[in-house]
Amino acid sequence: MRHAAAFAGKPARLFADNHPTVSAVSAAQDAYIRATDFDRPTVVFDLDMLRAKYRALDTGLATASIHYAVKANPAPEVIAAVAAEGGRFDCASRGEIDLCLSLGIPADHIAFGNTIKRASDIAHAFAAGVEQFAVDAEEELYKLAEHAPGCRVIIRMLVEASEADWPLSRKFGCSRREALRLMDLGRYLGLDVAGISFHPGSQVREPRMWASALDAAHILWTEAAEAGHALRILNIGGGFPAFYGEPMLRTEAYAAEVMRMVRHRFGTDVHVMAEPGRGLVAEAGVIIAEVLLVARKDQDDLARWVFLDIGKFSGLAETMDEAIRYQFETRHDDAETGSCILAGPSCDSADVLYEKRPVQLPLDIEAGDKIRILCTGAYTSSYSSVGFNGFPPLAAVFVN
Ligand SMILES: Cc1ncc(COP(=O)(O)O)c(C=O)c1O
Repeated sequence: MRHAAAFAGKPARLFADNHPTVSAVSAAQDAYIRATDFDRPTVVFDLDMLRAKYRALDTGLATASIHYAVKANPAPEVIAAVAAEGGRFDCASRGEIDLCLSLGIPADHIAFGNTIKRASDIAHAFAAGVEQFAVDAEEELYKLAEHAPGCRVIIRMLVEASEADWPLSRKFGCSRREALRLMDLGRYLGLDVAGISFHPGSQVREPRMWASALDAAHILWTEAAEAGHALRILNIGGGFPAFYGEPMLRTEAYAAEVMRMVRHRFGTDVHVMAEPGRGLVAEAGVIIAEVLLVARKDQDDLARWVFLDIGKFSGLAETMDEAIRYQFETRHDDAETGSCILAGPSCDSADVLYEKRPVQLPLDIEAGDKIRILCTGAYTSSYSSVGFNGFPPLAAVFVN
C-alpha cells in the first residue's frame, strides 16, 4: 500500500489518467520516517519498490536485457537487488566495476559504458573479465586494441536533438560518418565490432521522443551492414522516466512502446540492451530534509525564500538549470500555499534550487519543519558523495 501524502493525511495524488502516482511514499518508508528522528538529510530507499519497478520494466522490455546504470545509485543494496532480479550492469569507471565485482557480479555481466577511459582502467577491467566496452573516438579504439585485445566494442552514436528533460548534450557519441570509420578501424585492429549505442537523454517523458534517435540508429545500422559489418547488439541507453508529477505512461506500457518502436525498425534478430538508471531507482527513494530558514529580503518583499538543509551540492544536483523538478510534501500540505524560492544551505550563491519557476509551499512552513522530497532515489546520494560515477574523490596533499 502506498501513502502518497500520508504525511499530510491527504489521499494519494492521481495521475491525469487516474492512475495512482508511482512515486508515492510506501508504507514501509512512511513507517520508518515517522519512527525516526533525522538529524541530517537522508534518503529512505524502498527495495521492494525497486524490485517492482525492475519487474515492470523487464516485462515491458520483453526480450531486451537490462543493464542497470550503476551511476544512478551505486548503493550495494541496490546493486544486489538488481542482480537478484537478473539484471546486468553498465559501469562508468573502474570504481563502479570493482564495486560490482566485490558484490559477486560476474565480470561478463558488466559493460564498461563510459566512452572516456583511462588506459590502465581498460586493462584492469579486461583482466578482470569485462568484455564489452563503449567507444566514440579513434584514440579510444587504439587504447582498447592495446589493453583489451579482441574485446567487444559498441560504437556510441551522437544524439543530436534530444527532447529529454536532462539531455546528455554533445559530449558523448560521434557522427554517423565517424561511427562507420570507427567500425572499419576497430575491425582492422582485431576488435569485435558488435553493435551501436545511443542515449536519448535522461528523463524522456514520452516514448515518441525516442523516434528520431531510433531512426538515426537504424540508418547507421543499415549503412554498417552495407559496409560489411554484421552488427548484432543495439544498446538503447537509459532515458526511462521517473514520475516527477507530470502525467506519464505506466512503466510497463512505456517500455513496451519503446520496444515496439525498436522492433518496427530493427526487426527481431537484433539483441537489444537497455541501461536504465533513473527509471529503475528514482521512485524508490524519498529524501527527508529540514527547513532551516524562511526569510524575505525586506518586509515588503513578495519573494519568500525557503532554505533547506539539502542543496545542489549535497544531493540535489539535478536541480541545475531547474531541469528536474522534484515534488515536496510537508505536514502543512492542507494549508494555503504560496510560491517561494527554494535554496540549499551552502554559502555558495549558486546553491538555489528553484527560482525561475518558484515552488508552491504552505504559507505557514517554518524553520524546523521536515519536508519530504519525492522520487529522489536516482542521482542524489551518488552526486552528493565524493565518488560520483565511481571516480575517486579529489585527493589533497599539503606541502610546506
Ligand atoms: C552510458 C549511460 N547509460 C545509461 C545511463 C542512465 O541513464 P538514465 O538515468 O536516464 O536511465 C547513463 C546516464 O548518464 C549513461 O551515461
